[in-house]
Amino acid sequence: MTTTDDPKRKSRFPLHLGTGKTTPCRWARSLYVNSKRSLGILTDLLTTSKPATLGWRDYLTVQFTPVRYQPLLFPGGEVIEHRRDESILDSRDKLLAIGLPDNLTGKTVLDIGCAEGFFVIQAVLRGAERAIGCDIMEPRLRIARAVAKAWRMQDRVLFSRTDLHNIPLEWASDVVFCFAVVHHLHSSSGEPRFHDTWQMISNPRKYAKYVNNMLRAVAAVSSLTKEVTYWEYSFEYEDHKPRDVNHGALGRLWVQNGLYQAVDFVGLSQTLPMKDRALYRAFK
Ligand SMILES: C[S@@+](CC[C@H](N)C(=O)[O-])C[C@H]1O[C@@H](n2cnc3c(N)ncnc32)[C@H](O)[C@@H]1O
Repeated sequence: MTTTDDPKRKSRFPLHLGTGKTTPCRWARSLYVNSKRSLGILTDLLTTSKPATLGWRDYLTVQFTPVRYQPLLFPGGEVIEHRRDESILDSRDKLLAIGLPDNLTGKTVLDIGCAEGFFVIQAVLRGAERAIGCDIMEPRLRIARAVAKAWRMQDRVLFSRTDLHNIPLEWASDVVFCFAVVHHLHSSSGEPRFHDTWQMISNPRKYAKYVNNMLRAVAAVSSLTKEVTYWEYSFEYEDHKPRDVNHGALGRLWVQNGLYQAVDFVGLSQTLPMKDRALYRAFK
């Protein structure tokens, strides 16, 4: 059901163009995407060699998964690169930008929406006592488990297919990562998606239901955090990008709503003209 306040009705942002109907244009696009993916798999098979500590079966699982969000790093220095669209911030750059301490000895870590486990594995390499990664996409988790096995760190990691809203409280951790997940969740109660966080913040009354959805998801993450959450939040602009966007205002809203004691806005990566990726450190 749409209402007059529903910003999606006027949206010109390409991510929202999908109507669910198969049109010649959609069909051609899907043909293009699938051929590009098949070509990607073939090219990778011909040009990437198998990392020494990764079994053949796991290597083939990795290579035949059409989309990989994160690069996969292996103990011998081998890298299997990500395979996805270029608008995304590379995990290695994100790790540098977010300012994660080199030493996480004794800390517990939880990565919500962990994809192929890049940050979980990095946390264990920095000494974390245990690290849990959860995601709703099993193929990504299968890859994460294979990479952890290649590092022989299976006894310190757990990868579980679990939704952000159903994470057991026993998984609450000192350090939590939640990178590029929450903006996907606005439609969890069935409403049309609305990604334009800046419009929400600038006009919270008008967009109250979207603001509440966002705060509910952030509250779920905050309740699982003992010390600090490292956040990546994607700002996607519906119609145009205003000149006065203040990304720090999102963190202030979380503090005003009692979700965190303090939130540092760490920085921004502009991956597309109509998309900003903002990084935050949020303290309990
Ligand atoms: C844009 S990717 C980001 C992956 C990773 N956090 C990173 O930044 O490298 C979003 C990830 O969140 C996962 N995801 C989406 N909705 C989720 C939910 N409700 N609960 C847990 N994970 C979810 C997706 O499957 C996907 O792997």
